[in-house]
Amino acid sequence: MIKKTNGGKMRALTAEQIQDNYKQLLNTVQLYITGDRKDKVLKMYNELEDRISIAPASAKEHYHNAMIGGYIDHILRVVDLSLKVREMWEQNGGKVDFTDEELVFSALHHDLGKVGDLKHDYYIPQDNEWRRKNMGEIFTHNPKCEYMSVTDRAFYLLQHYNIPVSKKEFIGIRLTDGMYEEANKSYLMSYKAEFQVRSSLPHILHQADMMASRIEGELTKDSIEKEETEVYERIQNIQQAVGNKEKIKDENPKITKDLFEELFGEKR
Ligand SMILES: [Fe+2]
Repeated sequence: MIKKTNGGKMRALTAEQIQDNYKQLLNTVQLYITGDRKDKVLKMYNELEDRISIAPASAKEHYHNAMIGGYIDHILRVVDLSLKVREMWEQNGGKVDFTDEELVFSALHHDLGKVGDLKHDYYIPQDNEWRRKNMGEIFTHNPKCEYMSVTDRAFYLLQHYNIPVSKKEFIGIRLTDGMYEEANKSYLMSYKAEFQVRSSLPHILHQADMMASRIEGELTKDSIEKEETEVYERIQNIQQAVGNKEKIKDENPKITKDLFEELFGEKR
Protein backbone atom coordinates (compact mmCIF):
# COMPACT_ATOMS: atom_id res chain seq x y z
CA MET A 1 0.00 0.00 0.00
CA ILE A 2 1.27 3.46 -0.86
CA LYS A 3 1.93 5.72 2.09
CA LYS A 4 0.03 8.99 2.11
CA THR A 5 2.29 11.99 2.56
CA ASN A 6 1.76 15.38 4.13
CA GLY A 7 -0.95 14.09 6.45
CA GLY A 8 -0.56 17.04 8.81
CA LYS A 9 -2.25 20.41 8.57
CA MET A 10 0.79 22.24 7.35
CA ARG A 11 0.16 23.26 3.77
CA ALA A 12 3.69 24.12 2.81
CA LEU A 13 6.03 21.26 2.14
CA THR A 14 9.62 21.27 3.33
CA ALA A 15 12.46 20.61 0.90
CA GLU A 16 12.85 17.17 2.49
CA GLN A 17 9.17 16.35 1.98
CA ILE A 18 9.39 17.43 -1.64
CA GLN A 19 12.41 15.18 -2.16
CA ASP A 20 10.75 12.29 -0.32
CA ASN A 21 7.60 12.66 -2.42
CA TYR A 22 9.62 12.50 -5.62
CA LYS A 23 11.35 9.32 -4.38
CA GLN A 24 7.98 7.87 -3.48
CA LEU A 25 6.70 8.65 -6.95
CA LEU A 26 9.63 6.69 -8.42
CA ASN A 27 9.05 3.84 -5.96
CA THR A 28 5.42 3.67 -7.05
CA VAL A 29 6.52 3.34 -10.68
CA GLN A 30 9.03 0.63 -9.69
CA LEU A 31 6.35 -1.24 -7.79
CA TYR A 32 3.46 -1.14 -10.23
CA ILE A 33 4.65 -0.41 -13.77
CA THR A 34 6.20 -3.29 -15.66
CA GLY A 35 8.31 -4.08 -18.72
CA ASP A 36 9.80 -1.50 -21.08
CA ARG A 37 7.12 0.92 -20.06
CA LYS A 38 8.63 1.22 -16.59
CA ASP A 39 11.97 2.43 -18.05
CA LYS A 40 10.18 4.91 -20.30
CA VAL A 41 8.12 6.32 -17.43
CA LEU A 42 11.26 6.61 -15.26
CA LYS A 43 13.08 8.36 -18.13
CA MET A 44 10.23 10.85 -18.42
CA TYR A 45 10.27 11.59 -14.69
CA ASN A 46 14.04 11.88 -14.74
CA GLU A 47 13.88 14.50 -17.49
CA LEU A 48 11.03 16.40 -15.84
CA GLU A 49 12.32 15.98 -12.25
CA ASP A 50 13.10 19.63 -11.51
CA ARG A 51 9.71 20.82 -12.70
CA ILE A 52 7.54 17.92 -11.63
CA SER A 53 8.93 18.04 -8.06
CA ILE A 54 7.86 21.61 -7.42
CA ALA A 55 4.71 21.83 -9.57
CA PRO A 56 1.53 22.77 -7.69
CA ALA A 57 -1.73 20.87 -8.24
CA SER A 58 -3.84 23.98 -8.76
CA ALA A 59 -3.57 27.76 -8.96
CA LYS A 60 -5.91 29.06 -6.27
CA GLU A 61 -5.72 28.88 -2.52
CA HIS A 62 -9.29 27.56 -2.20
CA TYR A 63 -8.75 24.79 -4.77
CA HIS A 64 -6.45 21.91 -3.85
CA ASN A 65 -2.72 21.78 -3.17
CA ALA A 66 -1.90 25.20 -4.60
CA MET A 67 1.58 24.96 -3.12
CA ILE A 68 5.09 24.11 -4.21
CA GLY A 69 5.23 20.31 -4.55
CA GLY A 70 1.42 20.09 -4.49
CA TYR A 71 1.26 18.13 -7.75
CA ILE A 72 3.17 15.03 -6.57
CA ASP A 73 1.53 15.23 -3.15
CA HIS A 74 -1.86 15.10 -4.92
CA ILE A 75 -0.80 12.30 -7.27
CA LEU A 76 0.44 10.11 -4.39
CA ARG A 77 -2.83 10.67 -2.57
CA VAL A 78 -4.87 9.74 -5.66
CA VAL A 79 -2.81 6.56 -6.15
CA ASP A 80 -3.31 5.62 -2.50
CA LEU A 81 -7.07 6.33 -2.60
CA SER A 82 -7.53 4.58 -5.97
CA LEU A 83 -6.16 1.36 -4.47
CA LYS A 84 -8.41 1.76 -1.44
CA VAL A 85 -11.53 2.49 -3.51
CA ARG A 86 -10.72 -0.49 -5.74
CA GLU A 87 -10.56 -2.68 -2.62
CA MET A 88 -13.88 -1.35 -1.35
CA TRP A 89 -15.41 -1.80 -4.80
CA GLU A 90 -14.36 -5.44 -4.85
CA GLN A 91 -15.43 -6.13 -1.26
CA ASN A 92 -18.92 -4.95 -2.18
CA GLY A 93 -19.30 -7.19 -5.18
CA GLY A 94 -18.06 -4.72 -7.78
CA LYS A 95 -16.28 -6.09 -10.80
CA VAL A 96 -12.59 -5.40 -11.06
CA ASP A 97 -11.87 -5.77 -14.77
CA PHE A 98 -8.49 -4.02 -14.84
CA THR A 99 -5.06 -4.64 -13.39
CA ASP A 100 -3.41 -2.79 -10.51
CA GLU A 101 -0.91 -1.53 -13.08
CA GLU A 102 -3.70 0.00 -15.19
CA LEU A 103 -5.22 1.61 -12.10
CA VAL A 104 -1.94 3.03 -10.75
CA PHE A 105 -0.68 4.10 -14.19
CA SER A 106 -3.90 6.06 -14.77
CA ALA A 107 -3.84 7.61 -11.28
CA LEU A 108 -0.18 8.58 -11.75
CA HIS A 109 -0.83 10.37 -15.03
CA HIS A 110 -4.37 11.75 -14.84
CA ASP A 111 -3.03 15.26 -14.11
CA LEU A 112 0.31 15.00 -15.90
CA GLY A 113 -0.59 17.98 -18.11
CA LYS A 114 -0.34 20.18 -15.01
CA VAL A 115 3.43 19.81 -15.14
CA GLY A 116 3.46 21.83 -18.36
CA ASP A 117 4.86 21.05 -21.79
CA LEU A 118 8.37 19.97 -22.70
CA LYS A 119 9.83 23.41 -21.94
CA HIS A 120 7.43 25.44 -19.87
CA ASP A 121 5.72 25.09 -16.51
CA TYR A 122 1.92 25.15 -16.64
CA TYR A 123 1.68 27.15 -13.41
CA ILE A 124 3.89 30.10 -12.52
CA PRO A 125 3.75 32.22 -9.35
CA GLN A 126 1.15 35.01 -9.48
CA ASP A 127 3.13 38.25 -9.21
CA ASN A 128 0.07 40.50 -9.13
CA GLU A 129 -0.25 41.27 -5.42
CA TRP A 130 -3.90 42.34 -5.71
CA ARG A 131 -4.92 39.08 -7.38
CA ARG A 132 -2.92 37.07 -4.81
CA LYS A 133 -4.55 38.89 -1.92
CA ASN A 134 -8.11 39.28 -3.19
CA MET A 135 -8.56 36.29 -5.43
CA GLY A 136 -6.33 33.79 -3.66
CA GLU A 137 -4.34 33.23 -6.83
CA ILE A 138 -1.09 31.75 -5.61
CA PHE A 139 -0.19 30.69 -9.15
CA THR A 140 -1.39 31.60 -12.60
CA HIS A 141 -1.24 29.91 -16.00
CA ASN A 142 2.00 30.37 -17.86
CA PRO A 143 1.30 32.31 -21.08
CA LYS A 144 4.32 30.62 -22.71
CA CYS A 145 2.63 27.22 -22.41
CA GLU A 146 0.46 26.68 -25.49
CA TYR A 147 -3.16 25.95 -24.66
CA MET A 148 -4.22 22.31 -24.36
CA SER A 149 -6.57 20.79 -21.84
CA VAL A 150 -4.67 19.23 -18.93
CA THR A 151 -5.75 15.77 -20.11
CA ASP A 152 -4.70 16.37 -23.71
CA ARG A 153 -1.31 17.59 -22.52
CA ALA A 154 -0.97 14.44 -20.39
CA PHE A 155 -1.40 12.29 -23.49
CA TYR A 156 0.90 14.57 -25.48
CA LEU A 157 3.67 14.05 -22.90
CA LEU A 158 3.10 10.30 -22.69
CA GLN A 159 3.30 9.89 -26.46
CA HIS A 160 6.40 12.12 -26.58
CA TYR A 161 8.17 9.66 -24.29
CA ASN A 162 6.83 6.68 -26.29
CA ILE A 163 4.87 5.42 -23.31
CA PRO A 164 2.07 3.12 -24.46
CA VAL A 165 -1.36 3.48 -22.89
CA SER A 166 -3.96 0.70 -22.83
CA LYS A 167 -7.53 1.44 -23.90
CA LYS A 168 -8.77 1.15 -20.31
CA GLU A 169 -6.05 3.53 -19.13
CA PHE A 170 -6.85 5.96 -21.93
CA ILE A 171 -10.54 6.11 -21.03
CA GLY A 172 -9.69 6.13 -17.32
CA ILE A 173 -7.38 9.15 -17.63
CA ARG A 174 -9.79 10.81 -20.06
CA LEU A 175 -12.70 10.55 -17.59
CA THR A 176 -11.01 11.09 -14.21
CA ASP A 177 -12.69 14.51 -13.90
CA GLY A 178 -16.08 12.85 -14.39
CA MET A 179 -18.91 15.20 -15.23
CA TYR A 180 -16.90 18.21 -14.03
CA GLU A 181 -15.49 18.21 -17.56
CA GLU A 182 -18.09 19.14 -20.14
CA ALA A 183 -16.28 17.15 -22.83
CA ASN A 184 -16.84 13.93 -20.84
CA LYS A 185 -20.60 14.13 -21.19
CA SER A 186 -20.75 12.02 -24.35
CA TYR A 187 -18.87 9.22 -22.57
CA LEU A 188 -20.77 9.30 -19.29
CA MET A 189 -24.28 10.15 -20.44
CA SER A 190 -24.82 7.68 -23.22
CA TYR A 191 -28.23 6.04 -23.29
CA LYS A 192 -27.20 3.35 -25.75
CA ALA A 193 -26.07 0.25 -23.87
CA GLU A 194 -23.23 -0.43 -26.32
CA PHE A 195 -21.83 3.09 -25.86
CA GLN A 196 -21.79 3.08 -22.08
CA VAL A 197 -18.44 3.06 -20.28
CA ARG A 198 -17.46 -0.60 -20.05
CA SER A 199 -14.93 -0.61 -17.23
CA SER A 200 -15.27 0.59 -13.63
CA LEU A 201 -11.78 2.04 -13.81
CA PRO A 202 -12.88 5.62 -14.72
CA HIS A 203 -15.45 5.67 -11.89
CA ILE A 204 -12.91 4.49 -9.32
CA LEU A 205 -10.35 7.04 -10.47
CA HIS A 206 -12.93 9.81 -10.37
CA GLN A 207 -13.92 8.96 -6.81
CA ALA A 208 -10.29 8.80 -5.68
CA ASP A 209 -9.49 12.12 -7.38
CA MET A 210 -12.54 13.80 -5.85
CA MET A 211 -11.71 12.50 -2.38
CA ALA A 212 -8.09 13.60 -2.67
CA SER A 213 -9.00 17.07 -3.93
CA ARG A 214 -11.63 17.55 -1.25
CA ILE A 215 -9.28 16.41 1.54
CA GLU A 216 -6.48 18.64 0.26
CA GLY A 217 -8.92 21.58 0.17
CA GLU A 218 -9.93 20.88 3.77
CA LEU A 219 -6.30 20.67 4.90
CA THR A 220 -5.65 24.06 3.30
CA LYS A 221 -8.76 25.56 4.91
CA ASP A 222 -7.69 24.24 8.34
CA SER A 223 -4.25 25.72 7.91
CA ILE A 224 -5.67 29.13 6.88
CA GLU A 225 -8.03 29.14 9.87
CA LYS A 226 -5.19 28.18 12.19
CA GLU A 227 -3.05 31.00 10.80
CA GLU A 228 -5.92 33.51 11.14
CA THR A 229 -6.46 32.46 14.77
CA GLU A 230 -2.77 32.93 15.49
CA VAL A 231 -2.78 36.40 13.89
CA TYR A 232 -5.91 37.34 15.87
CA GLU A 233 -4.34 36.17 19.12
CA ARG A 234 -1.19 38.08 18.31
CA ILE A 235 -3.16 41.27 17.67
CA GLN A 236 -4.96 40.78 20.97
CA ASN A 237 -1.63 40.33 22.73
CA ILE A 238 -0.29 43.51 21.15
CA GLN A 239 -3.41 45.49 22.09
CA GLN A 240 -3.17 44.15 25.59
CA ALA A 241 0.50 44.92 25.79
CA VAL A 242 0.08 48.48 24.53
CA GLY A 243 -2.71 49.11 27.02
CA ASN A 244 -1.13 47.47 30.00
CA LYS A 245 2.56 47.69 29.39
CA GLU A 246 3.79 47.83 32.94
CA LYS A 247 1.12 45.51 34.32
CA ILE A 248 1.86 42.79 31.79
CA LYS A 249 5.58 43.17 32.23
CA ASP A 250 5.19 42.40 35.87
CA GLU A 251 2.58 39.67 35.59
CA ASN A 252 3.62 37.76 32.45
CA PRO A 253 7.34 38.13 32.12
CA LYS A 254 7.75 34.94 30.10
CA ILE A 255 4.96 35.45 27.55
CA THR A 256 5.69 39.07 26.81
CA LYS A 257 9.48 39.07 26.65
CA ASP A 258 9.75 38.79 22.88
CA LEU A 259 6.69 40.93 22.31
CA PHE A 260 8.09 43.79 24.40
CA GLU A 261 11.38 43.65 22.64
CA GLU A 262 9.62 43.83 19.31
CA LEU A 263 7.12 46.54 20.29
CA PHE A 264 9.20 48.81 22.45
CA GLY A 265 12.73 47.87 21.49
CA GLU A 266 13.74 47.37 25.08
CA LYS A 267 15.15 44.48 27.00
CA ARG A 268 13.55 43.40 30.17
FE1 LIG B 1 -6.40 15.18 -9.88
